[in-house]
Amino acid sequence: KRYNVAVVGATGMVGRKMLEVLEERNFPVENLYPMASARSAGDKITFMGKEYTVEELNENSFDKDIDVALFSAGGSTSEKFSPIAARNGVIVIDNSSAFRMDKNVPLIVPEVNPDDVQWHKNIIANPNCSTIQAMVPLKVLHDAYKIKRIIYSTYQAVSGSGVRGSQDLEEGISGQENKFYPHPIAFNVLPHIDVFTENGYTKEEIKMIEETKKILHDDNLRITATTVRVPVYYGHSESVNIEFERDFNLEELIKLLEISPGIVVQNNVSQNNYPTAVGVAGKDEVYVGRIRRDESIENGINLWIVADNIRKGAATNTVQIAELLMNKKLIKGV
Ligand code: A2P
Repeated sequence: KRYNVAVVGATGMVGRKMLEVLEERNFPVENLYPMASARSAGDKITFMGKEYTVEELNENSFDKDIDVALFSAGGSTSEKFSPIAARNGVIVIDNSSAFRMDKNVPLIVPEVNPDDVQWHKNIIANPNCSTIQAMVPLKVLHDAYKIKRIIYSTYQAVSGSGVRGSQDLEEGISGQENKFYPHPIAFNVLPHIDVFTENGYTKEEIKMIEETKKILHDDNLRITATTVRVPVYYGHSESVNIEFERDFNLEELIKLLEISPGIVVQNNVSQNNYPTAVGVAGKDEVYVGRIRRDESIENGINLWIVADNIRKGAATNTVQIAELLMNKKLIKGV
């Protein structure tokens, strides 16, 4: 079987990566419909050796026979056009935050909660980039030792803010003033991702907390987060402190992570071997290192988790969800 695929936001940083990942993984695309705003309608893109013309997204874009639409064109575009696509029988996999916490929308990391796709009503959400990479190892550990509490501290790349974030870093390095972030990002660290809310947390921090509970199906988890933007182009790094209900054997815990799909353990500090943002750029797996007992509490562990935020944090995870639908025979195809 082959599938008619729309990519909404096909000219953006994540949209272009989605096309690349579809091609790399040989997703059986019958017809491709690249869509974007009026600004880039008419632009040409090449996909699997064929040239396509970018269409302007509008209310009639989904009148065609499209099986699945991968959306990465911002929250407001998703809010407006995902329901239109869904009503037309298109399965939307949405990379924005618009529907993630909607009770009728499954929030999927394929290695973690694949069965949640079964109850989709034509919209499926891709989690926040920082949440995705944490979920892959944390699901394994939650199943084995039952997590009680999580403390997330993130070090996130500027590519997570799209083209304008990367520009601010590049121009800042050459001495120009910041245009996008509220402070210089070059040679700096900003404890501020997305907007601040009333309780002093940023929306990014709240996303990590709420999405973790939804994906792990556990509202009792106690979670706190500090999310930080750092002058790195690609790759989010996370220091994750976890308290378990049950005791664990450190070697066993490391083995468990090593044998789990989608995880690469780099944990040999005597060789200076641990994951770094630069080291994982272009990779689809989640990398885990610096695995050590938290000696200040009973059953605690510290992990250093790194992944390519544009790949596993966005494009790759979205394409994996499409593959999951295909493998579970949940999309029609031609
Ligand atoms: P365009 O290139 O026409 O502006 P990024 O996050 O890298 O800035 O990319 C955003 C993507 O979302 C781009 O492909 C952009 O298209 C697309 N986009 C933004 N706003 C809209 C809109 N209102 N309708 C359709 N696509 C949009």
